This record gives sequence, structure tokens and C-alpha cells, in this order.
Amino acid sequence: MFEKLDEPRLDPIISLMSAYREDLRAEKMDLGIGVYRNDEGITPVMSAVKKAEQELMDNQLSKGYVGLAGDEAFNQSMIDLLLGGTAAEMRASALQTPGASGALRLLGELMYQANPKTTIWVSNPSYVNHQPVMEAAGLKVAFYPYFDPVSKQLDTEGMMSCVEKLGPDDVLLLHGCCHNPTGVDIELSHWQMIAEMSQKQGFLPFVDIAYQGFGDGLEADRAGLKILADNVDELLVATSCSKNFGLYRERTGAAVLVGKTKSEAVKARGLMFEIARATYTMPPDHGAAVVTKILSQPELKTLWEAELNQMLARIKDLRTGLVEAFNQATGDNRFDYFGRHRGMFSMTGLSAAQANALREDHGIYIVGDGRVNVAGLQKDQIDYLVKCFLAIGA
Ligand SMILES: Cc1ncc(COP(=O)(O)O)c(C=O)c1O
Repeated sequence: MFEKLDEPRLDPIISLMSAYREDLRAEKMDLGIGVYRNDEGITPVMSAVKKAEQELMDNQLSKGYVGLAGDEAFNQSMIDLLLGGTAAEMRASALQTPGASGALRLLGELMYQANPKTTIWVSNPSYVNHQPVMEAAGLKVAFYPYFDPVSKQLDTEGMMSCVEKLGPDDVLLLHGCCHNPTGVDIELSHWQMIAEMSQKQGFLPFVDIAYQGFGDGLEADRAGLKILADNVDELLVATSCSKNFGLYRERTGAAVLVGKTKSEAVKARGLMFEIARATYTMPPDHGAAVVTKILSQPELKTLWEAELNQMLARIKDLRTGLVEAFNQATGDNRFDYFGRHRGMFSMTGLSAAQANALREDHGIYIVGDGRVNVAGLQKDQIDYLVKCFLAIGA
């Protein structure tokens, strides 16, 4: 059997990681893989997480199965974090999933069950897994214009004129904040327009929010989502605790469904149990148990928010540092986009050849499409990065 199989395609970001590990140059820099790093270059375990884990170690009585929905307290805390105070809050139902990745796949399959003619519209460019996950769920994938490579800003006209044409067989997948890979977010006035268009034209909005707290803070980062939640009848959300709780390997996330009525959302969640049962059955517990502890204990929650805000401040500080260093080195402001972008990533517009040259000649690893993980940078590396960018003709 095995000889009949094709060779697996290599994941470009994972291949980059192994090449980085083998690189012996002292000045090497990994700005490829999308993880947050602190000033010491480490992806830290947050203190709030450590404390919650200690409590779990001391008090957990059983490792018995939790159930198909995962931890219901966790599910409610995800609804609170994302939709608390909105009109959708009472019509929402959530399901714990293995990361936002699990949520994307389950919601994809649910959409296919609801309407096999669904086309899901994904930003161009988008998170690398959006297209394969949605295609694996059976959906047709199409792309809407998003990024203007010249201004490094949103192609507002391109995006909105595409959204204008969507109808009842369409789903519009939006990044809640900190767009991956570009760092370019949608303005609130456009979220408002999208909400109105969705109600009028009948397409379903679907928000993937994997970086809440990494853009401008927990509240500000859900502002677009809140506009949808207050104005549309139906809404899907995939969320992740990988980044804002630093729980990457614990695979912690949720799928949230907002129905016209609560009972419709609960019915849809029940169908997702069946989809989960046919794949992994139940989500892993540990990360969700940690998150639930943190969000339910005021002291831990305050500590977590403070740590998250420190991460956010570090990212903003790096962005300011980049803008200043580029301004100084070039005498112009063509790199100011680093300051306008939000979250961990910035799309630089570098070509694959330039990304290659950065790696080969200077030991700087970025993704071939020109995405830089700003959150992987150390402050004292900024001048070297600027020098190398200019050396390869950026
Ligand atoms: C936009 C987006 N959605 C979803 C995910 C997947 O997150 P998780 O680790 O929770 O599966 C990522 C991870 O990089 C992402 O960038």
C-alpha cells in the first residue's frame, strides 16, 4: 500500500524551523514560526498558567473523560471573553476544540452539512491553513482582495466590492484582529458595513480570532467581532488560547456558534459533537482546565491580563523600534507600516528571492511570502535586521 502513496508536501514554515536549528551562525534570527518570544528569546509559560497548573496538580482528583463538549465552564468563559455584553451573548453556544484549528475544521464541516453549495471566502493572503482545512471539510474556497502590497494597508475597495457580491451560499471568513500574515486589520466602520451587508445579502460571517489581546488589548481586539455580534442574526467564531495564554502545545480553543435563537445554536453544537466523535471524539482537557481556572479566579485573571499586556507592550515597543531604526537608516518613512500593523506579524512585501537572500546571506529566517514575526525579534537585533533588509534591497 505505502508504495502507492505520493510524497508528502513539506510545510514551508516547519521546514524553515529545521533549517534554522541547523544554522550555526551566531547572529541567526528566527522570524518565521508564529510564536511569541520574550526578551530572552523564549516562548514563556505565563505565571498565571504555572499557578493554575499547580492548583490542578494539587487538587485534580480524576483524569476520567470530560465529555464531547469538553469543559462547559471553559465553553462559557470563551463566550464571555468574546461575546460578553453583546446582543449575541444569550444566543451563543460553544464547544471546546483542539485549538482554533479544531474549531475551524468542525465549523467547516458543519457549514458543509448545512449547505454543500457553500463557498467560503478567505482573505488574500490568509493563514496558510485556512484553505486546506476548508477544502478538507468539503467547501469551495474563494479569495477576496485584502492586502495592498504597495501601501502595505488594506485594499478596502477591492475587499468591499467583493463582499458586496456575496449571497446566501457564501460564508465570509474574517480575522478578528492581528491579521495573519499581514498585520493589517479591518477598520470598525468596515465591520459595521459588513454586518449590514450580511443582514441584507444573506451571507454568513465567520470570525477567526486567534490573537485576542495581541493587537490593542483584550477589549479593543474584539471590537469588530462585537459589531457583528450586535448586528447579525447568525455568526460563527473560531478562537484560540494558544497565543494569549501561551498554551500552544496544549491545543486549546473553541468553536462558538450564534444562532437566530439559542436553541438553533445548541442544535448546531449537537451536530458538531457527531463530527468530533467521527474524528478525535473529545478535546484534550489540560489547557482548557488551566484557562477555566485563570478566568474564574479574580487574582489569577488579573495576573494573566497583566502578563498579556506586557507581551502586547513588548510587541508595540519592537514595532516602534523598527520604525525609528528604519527612519534613521533610510531618511524616509517607507517602513512606517511596521508601526501601523497589529499583532505579531507584518507583511513586508519582500519577494521570495529577497527572503532567500536574508536567510542565505544574513541568517535571518522569514517566511517566503515576506511575512515577518515581529514578536520573535529581540530589541538588540533591530539594527542588524535593518542593515540586512537594506542590503537585500528592501
Ligand atoms: C489566524 C489563525 N487561526 C487559527 C490558528 C490556529 O491556532 P491553534 O494553535 O489554536 O490551532 C492560527 C495559528 O497560527 C492562526 O494564525
